[in-house]
Order: sequence, then structure tokens, then C-alpha cells
Amino acid sequence: MADYDYDVLVIGAGPGGYVAAIRAAQLGLKTACAEGRETLGGTCLNVGCIPSKALLHASEYFEAAKGGAMAAMGIKVTPELDLPTMQGQRLDAIKGLTGGIEFLFKKNKVDWLKGYAQFKDAHSVEVAGKTVTAKNIVIATGSSVTPLPGVEIDNEGGVVVDSTGALELASVPKKMVVIGGGVIGLELGSVWRRLGAEVTVVEFLDQLLPGMDGDVRKEAAKIFKKQGMALKLGTKVTGVTVAEVNGGKSAKVTVEPAKGGDAEVIEADVVLVSIGRRPNTEGLGLGNIGLELNARAQIETDHDFATKVDGVWAIGDVIPGPMLAHKAEDEGIAVAENIAGLTGIVNHDVIPGVVYTQPEIAGVGLTEEAAKERGAIKVGKFPMLANSRAKTNHEPDGFVKVIADAETDRVLGVWCIASVAGTMIAQAAQAMEFGATSEDIAYTCHAHPTHSEAIKEAAMAVTGKPIHM
Ligand code: FAD
Ligand code: NAI
Repeated sequence: MADYDYDVLVIGAGPGGYVAAIRAAQLGLKTACAEGRETLGGTCLNVGCIPSKALLHASEYFEAAKGGAMAAMGIKVTPELDLPTMQGQRLDAIKGLTGGIEFLFKKNKVDWLKGYAQFKDAHSVEVAGKTVTAKNIVIATGSSVTPLPGVEIDNEGGVVVDSTGALELASVPKKMVVIGGGVIGLELGSVWRRLGAEVTVVEFLDQLLPGMDGDVRKEAAKIFKKQGMALKLGTKVTGVTVAEVNGGKSAKVTVEPAKGGDAEVIEADVVLVSIGRRPNTEGLGLGNIGLELNARAQIETDHDFATKVDGVWAIGDVIPGPMLAHKAEDEGIAVAENIAGLTGIVNHDVIPGVVYTQPEIAGVGLTEEAAKERGAIKVGKFPMLANSRAKTNHEPDGFVKVIADAETDRVLGVWCIASVAGTMIAQAAQAMEFGATSEDIAYTCHAHPTHSEAIKEAAMAVTGKPIHM
């Protein structure tokens, strides 16, 4: 048998890769992880989940103070925005957490190979001019921003930015145009709107948040409009031009109805391009191992996360499925366990998704539309306005919706719009993982007063008997 430098070599140290590497090492496998970025943690910790939440959290406080929500509870303050400090705490969060992964690598004896890896053959890669061999290689190279043809992104102080540039703005734009009403556009659009920008979201489809439940998408649009975001749905961007204006730069975004019609120009001092992300496979040397991509430029795997090439595995954003950190992490654990000869499984039917706006928007399982296509269903809905805790906290917006199979009562999907929907959705995911019926949730004792009681009441509503409505 060939001698390898490592049992497992993971390419990429995002939530997929670093978790795979740590789990492999925990299972006694000699493990290395190649990462070209200067810090570990991938998109999520450096320019994704964590920095966006740092700004979402801080801007929520700012808006609560400025917009009167605090005054309504008897706390009178006149806030002043100190953006450098707000940005500083974002950087502190990144530093603390990426450093934490470095510590975990050392603790678990995972070698960090600093540099971008390229396959030479199925068991060897070149990293920083050195060839490293491994019995198993896991591709966890993640994703990056999908460009908009003809629109150049300049994150170094430019006007047209992607999510990374939008996280790092040094001043609050007066007018911001967001191209794409998906998760990034709504989260980062909310940050800058709260801090004072006039935000216009241009979305090609006739609703925001593709992939989410239809009722949720409609309600979300109402809420964002009420909060002061201008929404241009069913609208496409046909061009963006940047010009020097009074010593600064400004953009003109030309849009027209997606189905055709008169064009309109929207001016902006920042344009955020957030029309999706695409897998990172370029420069990996996949041709050297004969690994082909699917039509969406993703790497296909089997249920164990093995690719068609023996000894080569893939996880996270680079393979099909939702591009989410927790999905990548779970796949990281599963692939390491499969490599170690255990049984690592991810249930892709039960992956929660959360939009961290205020209120938060969360869902797990099937949408009502998709569930109906599969057969007869029952739906229970409960408004947050009728939930005592949400009402007391001045958080009336949103609802919970539970979708169950009409015959078996098994829960097929749960959708929430609520201030803490991201936390609430965990119980729905767990219930679904255990094959719960709506009755199981309805008869589970929920602490009072909590937002989570709305999930119990929506489950009660599936059979028509909520108490507080
Ligand atoms: P990544 O995190 O992209 O990591 C891949 C790593 O591989 C990168 O560090 C890259 O440098 C490295 N790499 C690439 N090629 C090579 C190579 N050849 N050699 C060595 N290293 C290489 N998801 C959530 O679940 N919740 C959120 O709140 C959330 N917020 C987000 C906010 C933003 C603004 C963005 C952009 C994304 C957000 N996401 C969120 C998505 C989440 O970040 C990704 O789904 C997740 O990071 C994917 O993990 P991954 O390990 O597959 O890849
Ligand atoms: P997205 O796929 O969520 O949304 C992109 C939106 O842009 C869609 O609504 C699409 O219809 C629209 N669009 C596409 N082309 C367009 C065009 N030419 N003009 C106008 N609209 C157009 O992608 P997004 O927001 O860029 O995020 C990428 C991924 O990052 C997400 O899919 C998600 O997986 C991940 N993410 C997750 C977060 C979370 O979990 N809270 C937060 C941020 C990102």
C-alpha cells in the first residue's frame, strides 16, 4: 500500500472544511487542511455569516434607539452613530472566531497548509510549491459571488460592491441600490437602511426570497416596505454606469420591468450586487483527476459525499443543496465519519434556513406549494400578534405556519416570521427529524411566555383548535 503524508487532506477551511478536518482528527486520522486565505473560517467567519450578523445586531440597536422603539418602553435616548466603532466590533468578532479555529486546529493536531491547493492526481496536491499526498482528499472550497455580466465590482472604495464590500463601507450611503432581493440583499440592505440609507431593492422575480414559502415571501415584502425599503419586484437591471460627481462617484442603475416596458434610472452612491453565489472550482486542477462538474458548475457526490474519483470527496457550497454554513458543517462531520468507516448521514430534507432581518424569517422542510404537489395537506397558522410575549415586546409582525400531511399528520414544513424565528425553527427541525406529527408538537408543553408557543398554537391550528385565536 502506498505511503501518504496524511490520511485526510481537506481543501478549504470554511465551516465545511474546518469541521471535517477537526472531526477527522478526533477520529484518530492524520489530518491536514489547506487554506489560501490569511485566516481560517472561510466565507462564513471572514466575510459572511459572522460579520453580517455583527452589523445586523449593532444596527438593530441603533434603529431601536433612533426609531422610537426604546422610547416606547420608557428609554429615551438620542443615538449618535459611531461607524468606525461599529465596524471595529465586526472586525473583533472575526478575529476572535477565526483565531478560535486556529486554536482548535492546534488542539486537535490538524496541520494548516497555508496556500491554495491544486490537484496533481487523486492523492496529491500542490500547496505553496510543495507536493502533499493523502489517502483521502476532501474538496471544501466553498463559493463566491456570481457576477452580473457587464457590471464591474470594486470593493476597494468603489461604488459597485458585492457582499464583502457592503460589509466594509466606511460611511453610510445616502442612496443604495441592491440588485437581488435574496438573503444577502435583504440582510445587508437592512443594515444600511437602519443606519440611514435610502435603500431600493431590485428583484427580477415577482417576489423576494426565492425558495421560501409563498405566504412568507408576500408577508416579508409587506414588512420590508413598511420598514421603508423600496422594492422593485419583477424588475431587471439592464445596466450600471459609474460617473465622477462633485469629486465623488455616483452610479446610475437602469432598470426595466422583467417582462419588458419603459426603462427607469435610479441613482445611487452604493450599488450592492447580490444575485447569488457560485461554486469555487476554478484553479483546483479538477482536470488532472478527471472530475467533471454538473450543469450548475457544482461537484456531484453520492450520499456519502464521495465523488466519482476514488479517494476524493466533496462537501459544502461546492456541491448541490442550499449554500448554508450549518449544511456545510453537518456534511463536514458526515464525510469525516464516512472516511473513518463510520456511517455519516445528513438529512437534506431537514435543513433550516434563516434570514436574519428583523423580524427574522425562517423555515424548514417543504413550502406549502411544494407540499401540495406531493399530496393532500393540512395547514395551521398562528399570528405573532396573538402571542403574548411578542405582543408584550412590541413585536407584532409575522406568523408561524405548520404544514402537515393530511392523512398521517406528519409535519412536512414549518415557516416562521418572528423576532426570534431563527431560534424557534430549531424545535421544528428537531420535531421533523424525529418524524413528529402536528399533534406531537401541539401536545408538547412549551414554556410561557415565549415566542415558541406560537409554534405550538400553529400546530394546534392544523386540526382547528388554537387557544389564543
Ligand atoms: P466557504 O466558507 O466558502 O470556505 C471555503 C474556503 O476554501 C475559503 O476560505 C477559500 O479561501 C478556501 N479555498 C478555496 N479554494 C481553495 C484552494 N484551492 N485551496 C485552499 N483553499 C481554498 N450561511 C448561513 O448558514 N448563515 C448565515 O447567516 C450566512 N450568512 C452569510 C452572509 C454572507 C454575506 C455570505 C456571503 C454568506 C453567508 N452564508 C450564511 C453562507 C455561508 O457563508 C456559506 O454557506 C458557507 O461559508 C459555506 O461553507 P464552505 O465550507 O462550503 O465554504
Ligand atoms: P439568493 O439566491 O438568496 O438571492 C439572489 C436573488 O437575486 C434572487 O432573488 C434572484 O431572483 C435575484 N436575481 C438574480 N439575478 C438577478 C438580476 N439580474 N437582477 C435582479 N435580481 C436578480 O443569493 P444571495 O442573496 O446573493 O445569497 C447567496 C447565498 O448566500 C444564499 O443563497 C444563501 O445560501 C447564502 N446566504 C445565507 C444567509 C443566511 O443564511 N442568513 C445570509 C446571506 C447569504
